[in-house]
Amino acid sequence: MKTTGNTIFISGGSAGIGLAMAKKLNAAGNTIIINGRSEERLQSALKQLDQAIAIQGDLSVEADRIRIAKELKEHHPKVNVIINNAGAAFSYLLSETLNAHEKAAIEMNTNYLSVIHFTELLLPHLLQKTEAAVVNVSSIAVFGSHKLVPTYGATKAALHSYTVALRYTYEEEKNLQIYEVYPPLVNTEFSAEIGGANGIPPEEVADELFLALEKNQFDVPVGDTKQFFK
Ligand SMILES: NC(=O)c1ccc[n+]([C@@H]2O[C@H](COP(=O)([O-])OP(=O)(O)OC[C@H]3O[C@@H](n4cnc5c(N)ncnc54)[C@H](OP(=O)(O)O)[C@@H]3O)[C@@H](O)[C@H]2O)c1
Repeated sequence: MKTTGNTIFISGGSAGIGLAMAKKLNAAGNTIIINGRSEERLQSALKQLDQAIAIQGDLSVEADRIRIAKELKEHHPKVNVIINNAGAAFSYLLSETLNAHEKAAIEMNTNYLSVIHFTELLLPHLLQKTEAAVVNVSSIAVFGSHKLVPTYGATKAALHSYTVALRYTYEEEKNLQIYEVYPPLVNTEFSAEIGGANGIPPEEVADELFLALEKNQFDVPVGDTKQFFK
């Protein structure tokens, strides 16, 4: 798809991978709308972007998803790309916790159910556009389990399954493309507890997404995740 002139909403665009994507796409001439829970982080991110917009809100909360989708449609109707990037993960050992199911529920709500709902809220709007895309950020965790994030992988595998189904559903609609980005370990705050300092820079994920958009390459493995796409 075109990589300039889009209006792109990025959930979790105030830090890490989302902010790196915001910067890359902003520099290429796209209007960027970032989202996050902390207003302070959003304001700090806005200073690093050119004429970007921020919409505060917690996408794991139903009322916030409805409000944000409404605000996008009413005040930023040019939005034609949504990047579902915000995610949650708990780092813990199954042997040392008694509430893994509560952690799993939070992860599943943020990483899977909320993405389905938010996407559903915006799909009718996106389908009216000449060119539109949904970009879901999953993970290398789609392809295997890790004992330090024991209930996270399943949520990203679920997101992957939904993303493929969404792509199949709309494959006849030439104006709507469905992308999935699979980052490996990336050096962000998110991964700090599982050795994220050894991960790749978030800019590498943003660069791969940009190239994929240019090529209409819907699966976007990054770094180590490429081994699963040979
Ligand atoms: N880092 C990795 O190693 C890695 C690897 C594979 C996949 N991923 C995936 O990549 C995505 C981004 O991760 P990251 O490493 O860039 O994380 P990060 O550096 O911690 O940034 C997360 C961003 O999301 C926002 N956010 C978190 N929860 C939110 C919510 N419920 N609603 C709205 N915004 C929210 C944060 O801002 P606020 O805190 O202010 O809300 C921040 O802007 C996640 O889906 C993650 O699962 C990460």
